[in-house]
Amino acid sequence: MTQVRWGLVSTANINRRLIPAIRQSARGEMVAVASRSQASAEAYAAEWEIPRAFGSYQAMLNSDEIDAVYISLPNHLHAEWTIKALQAGKHVLCEKPFALSLDEVDQMIATAEATGCVLAEAFMYRHHPQTKLVGEWVRNGRLGEITLIRATFNFDISGDPDNVRLVPEYGGGCLWDVGVYPISLAQFLMGRLPDWVAGSQWVGDKEVDEVFSGHLHYANEDGDCAAQISASFRTPWHTFAEVLGTNGRLELNRPFVGLDDSQRRLTFYPRQGEPQEIPVPEKELYLGEVEDMHDAILAGTAPYISLTETHNHVKTVLALYKAAATRQIVTL
Ligand SMILES: NC(=O)c1ccc[n+]([C@@H]2O[C@H](COP(=O)([O-])OP(=O)(O)OC[C@H]3O[C@@H](n4cnc5c(N)ncnc54)[C@H](OP(=O)(O)O)[C@@H]3O)[C@@H](O)[C@H]2O)c1
Repeated sequence: MTQVRWGLVSTANINRRLIPAIRQSARGEMVAVASRSQASAEAYAAEWEIPRAFGSYQAMLNSDEIDAVYISLPNHLHAEWTIKALQAGKHVLCEKPFALSLDEVDQMIATAEATGCVLAEAFMYRHHPQTKLVGEWVRNGRLGEITLIRATFNFDISGDPDNVRLVPEYGGGCLWDVGVYPISLAQFLMGRLPDWVAGSQWVGDKEVDEVFSGHLHYANEDGDCAAQISASFRTPWHTFAEVLGTNGRLELNRPFVGLDDSQRRLTFYPRQGEPQEIPVPEKELYLGEVEDMHDAILAGTAPYISLTETHNHVKTVLALYKAAATRQIVTL
């Protein structure tokens, strides 16, 4: 096997990013799309020049024409269809948030282990050279002791009241949707779960959080550290992150999304002296997660984002929601 034959589980908007990445990889083949209706699958397949169209997700999973699937369903369906895909012997790249409960995460991981199929969470920015570089700066001590991570992901959903992100039973809410990016950055840079979290939220009339801010506390022998994360559906589009250490500060103007690498800025503000622009190699944002799946499926390497990290992402979100709802600190 030298090529991975991909199928898309749904006609979701985000597929438009994965399809070019799969086609860009020499080891990927864009073979099929499945939708809840045959007409929708065929229309989508024609638009994107995908050879096969299936009128149900299960029909595509039953097909021996595909090896791997991309789960781009609304959040509440990630676990169900990931498990069904794994049981059908398909490798799975599942969108964030991976699942909405730890029971679901555990079942997904157990099914991957039982079937021997590859399972990974789709956090495209984690594979970008900029994120890896920031990780190296933290781990090799160039920033000194890390004292604070601040990260945010905001956008404005107010013109789209029917968006699935506003449906509580679909796993709606800004923390599940975009707050997971700052949380995953903190998990990556700190390498572990926070010891405790606090959170506050604004729940709108759709009964999901539309603004969320959280405090993730990491106890250290040499001095405690925190991550301040925030997410919003109610403010203009804005992403930002900074990592502060005893030797200086790294600032990222586009830490999570952005197809045009020329707009990214990674700036180091040293303890003394002038700010320095840090050059970052360019890379197509969604290609890394696809290549990582190909490595795992074809060469047997472990996925770059471990399932332990993924478990921790969901655990942190749930703890933050509990903290906000109870106005109490929640220990992890
Ligand atoms: N990594 C990223 O950059 C990124 C960006 C955006 C979104 N995401 C994630 O990707 C996932 C999809 O987001 P999206 O905005 O692309 O979704 P979307 O455009 O709303 O599409 C979701 C698809 O799911 C299918 N579906 C099945 N049951 C559904 C239901 N009850 N209601 C609505 N749709 C249903 C539909 O496809 P059919 O009609 O064809 O069955 C629909 O097209 C989410 O988990 C989100 O968090 C990731």
